[in-house]
Amino acid sequence: MNSLRLIATALCCLTVLFGGLTFSSDAQLDPNFYSQTCPQLQAIVSQVLSKVAKNDPRMPASLIRLHFHDCFVQGCDASVLLNKTSTIVTEQEAFPNIKSLRGLDVINQIKTAVESACPNKVSCADILTLSAGISSVLTGGTGWLVPLGRRDSLTANQTLANQNLPGPSFSLTELKSAFADQGLTTLDLVSLSGAHSFGRSRCFLFSDRLFNFNNTGKPDPTLDPTYLKVLQKQCPQNGAGDNRVNFDPTTPDILDKNYYNNLQVKKGLLQSDQELFSTPGADTIGIVNNFANNQNAFFQNFATSMIKMGNIGVLTGKKGEIRKQCNFVNTKKKSSELDITAVTSTESFEGGVVSSM
Ligand code: HEM
Ligand SMILES: *[C@@H]1O[C@H](CO)[C@@H](O)[C@H](O)[C@H]1NC(C)=O
Ligand SMILES: *[C@@H]1O[C@H](CO)[C@@H](O)[C@H](O)[C@H]1NC(C)=O
Ligand SMILES: *[C@@H]1O[C@H](CO)[C@@H](O)[C@H](O)[C@H]1NC(C)=O
Repeated sequence: MNSLRLIATALCCLTVLFGGLTFSSDAQLDPNFYSQTCPQLQAIVSQVLSKVAKNDPRMPASLIRLHFHDCFVQGCDASVLLNKTSTIVTEQEAFPNIKSLRGLDVINQIKTAVESACPNKVSCADILTLSAGISSVLTGGTGWLVPLGRRDSLTANQTLANQNLPGPSFSLTELKSAFADQGLTTLDLVSLSGAHSFGRSRCFLFSDRLFNFNNTGKPDPTLDPTYLKVLQKQCPQNGAGDNRVNFDPTTPDILDKNYYNNLQVKKGLLQSDQELFSTPGADTIGIVNNFANNQNAFFQNFATSMIKMGNIGVLTGKKGEIRKQCNFVNTKKKSSELDITAVTSTESFEGGVVSSM
């Protein structure tokens, strides 16, 4: 233990000495990060989420997706939570996110509860990551020890959100490349896509498959004909683009292996889902078959890949900050650096800050 600390201290000094060098970004994350500073954290998050999920069984899915959309854009740093201000161009308004993100209010609710128990200790990035892990447990999925110690970004990046987040019509090659850009493997791609075993998708994101796939004037041949008819009813050709359809027709709100069984019988909802099984000769087919036959194999790989995704580009140590309010960067103390919009919209109640103006 002591020698570990020594090594950590040594690394720390090296970081100071060679400021430009970056060490493995997840080196400092630790499931026990808050065991002294906020021992109630896990209990608070579980308590809020189980209450919320009772009234809104889709919310656990929405939170896992929110975490994914955070991590793929400048790392798991809660950048996706930042609202529009004079200096923030939001990720929330990027194409994959606009009118699509859910759970921002739930994260704020958890943050409020956490702040009253342990003020200024817990980052929004960790709250979001932990919420994703607990969401898995609450919906029948597997649990894992969530490494913690992330800090919150000072920026968001809408351009990167548009660039990095994969689209529903991506080919397998494009999917693999989007994941490889984040340091994730083909196995991670197949494991994490299993999150499409719950939650919903709006029709317009896959309706090309139902009527005019790839400009052929016909439906996608890799879509089961009976399922096709069901989907055509739920998503009629004109004006139903915003209707919502379950990803998994069998167990819509449960995180289980059924996603992979659906792919085997051509019932993947998005093209990007079905590509994993229906791309001729693909190395993903064997993985789909393995998970379809073995829920434990899926759960184990899902946990491993979620931890890996949760480690992408994290800010640790003194980087970033612990946000007071998850939708806004903390107001700077120097009056010369104050951003008027941010002050009026978030910090106007902060006497100390306002009086320093
Ligand atoms: C592999 C590439 C992926 C693509 C192309 C993709 C695409 C999509 C699309 C188009 C939707 C529907 C959005 C809407 O209706 O507005 C969606 C929903 C969802 N995605 Fe993905 N996704 C991918 C990977 C992932 C990953 C890695 C996760 C999490 C680990 C995930 C979790 C979810 C969940 C849970 C929902 C449902 C959310 C809800 O009901 O609120 N997806 N995804
Ligand atoms: C942040 O923006 C969301 C909509 O994107 C809104 O619902 C929420 O109220 C905003 N948060 C604050 C604190 O203004
Ligand atoms: C967003 O990311 C791009 C690509 O890395 C970079 O060029 C740009 O400066 C970033 N914008 C912001 C606001 O950080
Ligand atoms: C779509 O059509 C193009 C050109 O006809 C073809 O090269 C491509 O493979 C097709 N894509 C799919 C997914 O069928």
